[in-house]
Formats: sequence, C-alpha cells, structure tokens
Amino acid sequence: MDERAFYVAGRPEHGADPVTIRHPYDGHAVGSTTTATPEQVERAVSAAAAAAGPAQALPAHARAAALDHVSARLKERADEVARLITAENGKPLKWARAEAARAVSTFRWAAEEARRFAGSLQRLDTDPAATGRMAVVRRFPRGPVLGISPFNFPLNLVAHKVAPAIAAGAPIVVKPAPATPLSALLLGEILAETDLPEGMFSVLPLPNERAAALVSDPRLPVVSFTGSGPVGAAIRRAVPDKHVTLELGGNAAVLLCEDWTADADLNFAASRIATFSNYQAGQSCIAVQRVFVHEWVYDGFLPRLIDAVAALRTGDPRDEATDVGPLISEAAAERVESWVDEAVAGGATIEAGGLRAGATYPPTVLSRVPKSAKVSREEVFGPVLVVEPVASDTAGFAAINDSAYGLQAGVFTRNLQTAFAAHRTLEVGGVIVGDVPSYRADQMPYGGVKGSGVGREGLRSAIDDYTEPRVMVLTDLDL
Ligand code: SIN
Repeated sequence: MDERAFYVAGRPEHGADPVTIRHPYDGHAVGSTTTATPEQVERAVSAAAAAAGPAQALPAHARAAALDHVSARLKERADEVARLITAENGKPLKWARAEAARAVSTFRWAAEEARRFAGSLQRLDTDPAATGRMAVVRRFPRGPVLGISPFNFPLNLVAHKVAPAIAAGAPIVVKPAPATPLSALLLGEILAETDLPEGMFSVLPLPNERAAALVSDPRLPVVSFTGSGPVGAAIRRAVPDKHVTLELGGNAAVLLCEDWTADADLNFAASRIATFSNYQAGQSCIAVQRVFVHEWVYDGFLPRLIDAVAALRTGDPRDEATDVGPLISEAAAERVESWVDEAVAGGATIEAGGLRAGATYPPTVLSRVPKSAKVSREEVFGPVLVVEPVASDTAGFAAINDSAYGLQAGVFTRNLQTAFAAHRTLEVGGVIVGDVPSYRADQMPYGGVKGSGVGREGLRSAIDDYTEPRVMVLTDLDL
C-alpha cells in the first residue's frame, strides 16, 4: 500500500508519524499517509501569504483553466475517486459515485464563476453634488483561506473550500478530516498538475489538536470550517476579528402539508424520506431527522414510511446494491444507539430498526418520542427518523422552528401559497418545496442560521465570502 503524499505549497511531500486509514465497515487498511511536521505547516502558511499577490493578479482565464482541469480530471478518474471515498468514509458506492460527480460540477461551476466574477458599476450622479461621478465596485480577496473539512463528504466538501478560493484568487491551506484525508490528497495530486502559482494551495493531514494554531495564525485571515457546533463556536470565540464561515450541524425536518394526501404523493414522500434519512448512514447535515405529518394522513403514511425504510439494503458499502453502510466508526454507531435507547426509555416506540452490528446501525424509525430526547433536539448524524403528527401546516412550521438549528427544511406541498408561507416562516438557510431538506445543488447558497452556522457556501456565495468589496470612484472632470 503506497503512502500518499500531502501537498505543501503545491508540491508533494511526506512528513512524520505514519497514519493508516481503515475501512469503517470492517477495519481493513485502505491507505496511508503521514502527518505534516510543524516545519512543513510553517512553509505552507508562509507560502500562502507570499502567494496572495500573485494569486490576486491571476487573470480569470488562468483561474478558470485550472478549475476546468480539476473538473475534467475528476471526471476521468471518477470510478477510482468513488472507490477511494467509499474506502475511507464507508458510504455506499452509489453515494460515493454521486459525491464524485458533484465534485466534478463544483469545480466546473467555480470555473464559470471565475469567468463571470466582474464587480458592478454604480451611478453616483443622483445628487447634484456628485455630477460626473460613478463608482466601480470590485471584490478583492480578504487574504489566504484556511479550510477545515469534515469526514462526511471527504471530497466535495473539500472542493467547496478549494474551488471558490481559486476562483476568487485566494491561496488556501486545507486541513482535511483526520479520518478521511485520502480523497483530499487525491485532489491535491490533481491540483498539482495545474499551473497555479506556488503557494496557492496546500493540503495538510493534521490531527485536530493542531488546528488551533492554524486558526489563530494571522497570515490566514479567512477561516472556512465545516464540522461540529462546539468546534465551530470555539473557532468563533478564538478569532473574533477574522472572517469566519461556519457550516455546522442540523436536525433537518420535513413537513407533509395539508394538501399532500394523494396516494402517489404519500408514496413519493415515504420513498424520499426513507432514502435521505439513511443515505451515508444519516451522516449529512441535511439528512432527514424529524418528520412532521398532517394528522389527517399520519396513520396512512406511517406504514408506507416503515415499508420504504425496511426496503433499504444495509450492508457492505462496496456492493453496488447497498443503500446503507456503516457510520464512520463503531464509537459513532454506539452513540447513536445510546440516543435511541434514551428515547425508548422515555416512552418512544421503535417502528423500524434493529440491532447495531459494529459500526453499522440499522435504519430506524421512532414515534411518540419525548420532546426532550436527544434524537429530537440534537443532531443525530445517524440513520434515525423521528415521526410526529401535527394539527395544521402552521403547527408544522412551528415544530420545524422548534430547534436550536436551522440549515434546510423540506415541505411537501403543491400549494403555492403554502410554499410562500414556508419560505417566509421557516428559520433555515433553505426551504426545499416538494422534496426533502437533503436536496443540495452545489451552485446554490448553502448554510444555516441559529446553531447551524454563519455565512454561506455554494460557489458564488463562497467567492463573495472570501472577498470584500472595494469601491473606486471615477470623476468625469469635464462635467
Ligand atoms: C453537509 O453535510 O453539510 C453537506 C451536505 C451536502 O453537501 O449535500
């Protein structure tokens, strides 16, 4: 098994302390790398600082060409990339293929944004005193970016840090999740094929304990973090003067509204909810966790949902037919199990589910769950659904909002006015009408309110986030 290189200022290097990455399903070794030494981290950061000028000066065609190259190479190597994602993360191959395809389009979109990203012109001569003046508003990088990415999308959530940085002309230092560095290192290998200036990117495998020093390093004025709420809050407290984007957790909810009563509609909702509660074993910040169903259809809907969940195939993620694989570790599955046990001890009924086997937890549906149970209030990050009847759409909106989080919500309705009401009322970063909250197109703004974070990703939004506007006022001296 070859030891994968990591990337310091765009060049492959090896460090100290070998790290073996193991398959979450059965623990066999799937790859290895090494940890970056403090000296290598220092070189990466000082090279990023030194590259800020050349990166900003890179013409749009050069940025776009690099991004297009990455997109094309990811597409060429899609099968290998998907197998690597499955190997280190344990998500079923079908979902790993979907992630690899999304990363192709994340880089393609970034290339398109790099070409379009132009600033704006504002007239100032609306007042007599400003006759002859106009403002050119352009955005310039805030400086080098530190990207810290999670294990649940080991490629595409790295892509969401790196691609907008290149499009914006900002160097980036990436620290991938310690459990899943291999996909990020493969991305580094492809980035190293481009003509980007030295120092434009580094990918450094580091244990989490060493992230704090990078977060507080003044040469990295932008921090883009995706991960847990407590770590995100600690970052914000540690560097109040930096520009920080936090993509944190959620306990995403979906509502089946009053008009969602037709047989075909109920079957569709059951199938979508079952799939997107359990894809990647529920390890997505927008996996469906809470399901609110209008009481008129609750009794008719629950058996359909149970059937749809029972139809999912749990097993070896390398099997193309598997729907639900393991969680990232046995400890993660044990935590999910303990939360379900807590809900059951509080009076919840298990409608579907079974016994944990190592890191694999079976897709589980719970009803009559006490409001105080962790599976209702916290982010499960596992294949567990909580189903509850509601008396009206308004009560359903209130139930969705009764959460410390607010990332995305799904609303099954065909009624345009209900859709508008949901959009107005729901305290989330995105409302998905006609589907589950787990829908994400990589070019759209993505992020949350309340405990789900600050700022938005999605190519254009992240480019805006990594840059700030600078005005140039032009004066026509002859007027
Ligand atoms: C996340 O878990 O926040 C990312 C979800 C996605 O990109 O689909």
